[in-house]
Amino acid sequence: MTQPFPGLELLSTAVLMLDEALQVTYANPAAETLLAHGRKHLLGASFERVVPGNARFAKRLAQAVADDAGFSENELTLEIAGQPVTLGCVAVPIMEEPARLLLELRELDQQIRIAREAKLVEHQQANRELIRNLAHEIKNPLGGIRGAAQLLERELPGPELREFTQVIVKEADRLQSLMNRLLTQSRLPQIEMINVHEVMERVRTLVLAEHPEVLAVRRDYDVSLPDLPGDKESLIQAVLNVARNAAQAMNGRGQIAFRTRVARQVTIAKARYRLAVAVEIEDNGPGVPENLADKIFYPLVTGREGGSGLGLSLAQSYVHQHQGLIEFESAPGRTCFTILLPVRNPAEAGLARPPSESDKP
Ligand SMILES: Nc1ncnc2c1ncn2[C@@H]1O[C@H](COP(=O)(O)OP(=O)(O)OP(=O)(O)O)[C@@H](O)[C@H]1O
Ligand SMILES: [Mg+2]
Repeated sequence: MTQPFPGLELLSTAVLMLDEALQVTYANPAAETLLAHGRKHLLGASFERVVPGNARFAKRLAQAVADDAGFSENELTLEIAGQPVTLGCVAVPIMEEPARLLLELRELDQQIRIAREAKLVEHQQANRELIRNLAHEIKNPLGGIRGAAQLLERELPGPELREFTQVIVKEADRLQSLMNRLLTQSRLPQIEMINVHEVMERVRTLVLAEHPEVLAVRRDYDVSLPDLPGDKESLIQAVLNVARNAAQAMNGRGQIAFRTRVARQVTIAKARYRLAVAVEIEDNGPGVPENLADKIFYPLVTGREGGSGLGLSLAQSYVHQHQGLIEFESAPGRTCFTILLPVRNPAEAGLARPPSESDKP
């Protein structure tokens, strides 16, 4: 049996050494953690017994031993203890009798998730910027169009043509109010310490009042959730827009679940937070139409008769105001929107006076 390698013992990446028959001759503590087996169990066991269900990868290892050649993979998915785990892997041939191959495994899931979230937020912010600029550009000439139509109306020889100038005026007004909603930022956010459950309960009451038919809203709240600094009205609006969509997608008949959870050590848009609050709104409706899935956060994108396609776009800007993240997963029968809100430092979030115990009811 190979003696422990002191240099490898302290590594945070998992290192295994395998002999010709792919039996483990050495495993460092990080490998014990990753593979969820103690060293006693690992040593002498074949790779296939240690991580069963990964025949293709085991074959690759055997080939590497036979050819005395190493390889590396950037995104390898191994099934470990019944769960798929994404890893970066490097295999190097060694002559450390009886070991023939050194295998280094680095867990990637965490890093991939962080990178994906950073990209998502960046993308969402770029979209908002583009949309705001576009809305401005559309809004400006509208006043001119409306005014010109009114002037024209006065010059018309008879009332029968007024119908047409009225169409121009009405449509210009409709577009104007749409653009105003797009550019909404009319009130300054009022930052206070917020209990997320109060927000959820308000939304629940509103959605139930709008859909008294047979809508059920199930609650699954984590009562240990901390308060967080934010603008209550915007958060209510954000959650309401999401919950309203869920109710509308099911025609008011179905189940909605409101869930809250604590999330630890989250990274959103490259900023790291020790603590965040995850709010989930799940429905058992038909799911987001597939052709809309990657654009529902864009304004004016709607799959609903009579929808204006602004609900989610606004929800997203409100969540961004709170340095948060909104995303969703959807399949027929289960659609879940998650709003992740970091618990920021009250002063940094714009709260003038830090909360004191006497503020609490
Ligand atoms: N829970 C959901 N289930 C199924 N589809 C959804 C769900 N949530 C959103 N959608 C789809 O995303 C589209 C965009 O939603 P969004 O709230 O932005 O606009 P809208 O609901 O159409 O209009 P508005 O909210 O402005 O009245 C919806 O029209 C719908 O097709
Ligand atoms: Mg909507």
